[in-house]
Amino acid sequence: MTTGSTDRKIDKMIHLLVKNAMVVVPGPKIALQIGVTRAAVGQWIKTLRELGVEIKGHHGTGYQLLKIPDILVPSLIQAELGESEIGRTIIHHFRADSTNTAALNLAQKGAEHGTVVVAEEQTAGRGRLGRPWHSEKSSGIYASVILRPPFSPAAAPILTLMAGVATQHALSAATGLSVDIRWPNDLLVNGKKVAGILTEMSAELGRLHAVVLGIGINVNHREMPAELKPIATSLRIESQRPWSRVQVFIALLKELERYYHLLLEKGSAAIAERWAAASTYANGKRIRIMTPEAESLATTVGLDSSGALRVRYDDWREEALVAGEVAEVK
Ligand code: BTN
Repeated sequence: MTTGSTDRKIDKMIHLLVKNAMVVVPGPKIALQIGVTRAAVGQWIKTLRELGVEIKGHHGTGYQLLKIPDILVPSLIQAELGESEIGRTIIHHFRADSTNTAALNLAQKGAEHGTVVVAEEQTAGRGRLGRPWHSEKSSGIYASVILRPPFSPAAAPILTLMAGVATQHALSAATGLSVDIRWPNDLLVNGKKVAGILTEMSAELGRLHAVVLGIGINVNHREMPAELKPIATSLRIESQRPWSRVQVFIALLKELERYYHLLLEKGSAAIAERWAAASTYANGKRIRIMTPEAESLATTVGLDSSGALRVRYDDWREEALVAGEVAEVK
């Protein structure tokens, strides 16, 4: 399988099968309606089966979808998004190196605000601080959203917090799990990381061209790799049931749209307020602050309106953290 974006025609085929769910659809009808050869239909059915889509082949009569597939293709998502700008264009990949790289390239070529790139699998998923992001096939949501906000680059950090609050709301509403946010933007369930956000931007001399919000969510991973087990988890592991990635993704895109508009209309203080209400890290949390140079202990004393985390060191000195990594001290 290549890393190119998914052919719109395969998306159309999934749509056709879903529209006729549980009915046997003749191969020639699929080929005719989509405008491809019967051989291409056979090839795509194989690809979909490899992704876990349950399609029964009826010899000589056609194909029957046995279950609505949980694939993040535009045709299964966009109908739920209404007038939303975020997700008006969704570019789906069965496999991408990194959806952030793909989105940054598209942004460079002028892709519109709200364009979303999503992949079933990433071969070079990136996390913060140069770490890799574990991107197991069809288990997680690996998505990047292109935003074109009317801000200067200096205001970009609040967009990361905006994405953190939106993701927190989407995950807790979709699953009922209690989801915490560790500053600046790690989503935790029972103290372990279930999702992360990598914000990258293209800017020059005080002018922001585009921001790419890369969001990775561990949804249906049955088990995390050994090295991640102590610190990471999935929604499935924590709730002991699988979740529809399509539904979680729809919830995420809707919440991003909602909080982006809140930011534009009410400003960064409104986001900081929502963030502080959603995170146990905002106030009174004993934390370890890790920078490349040193580690220190402090207690959190609030979030300022730009999204910086205010901390008090043991000598009562106070500081506002704008970047870095923190961990809870138990
Ligand atoms: C983190 O370190 O917490 C940030 C993880 C961000 C991962 C996502 S998955 C989709 C997008 N593409 C990437 O390569 N990274 C982000």
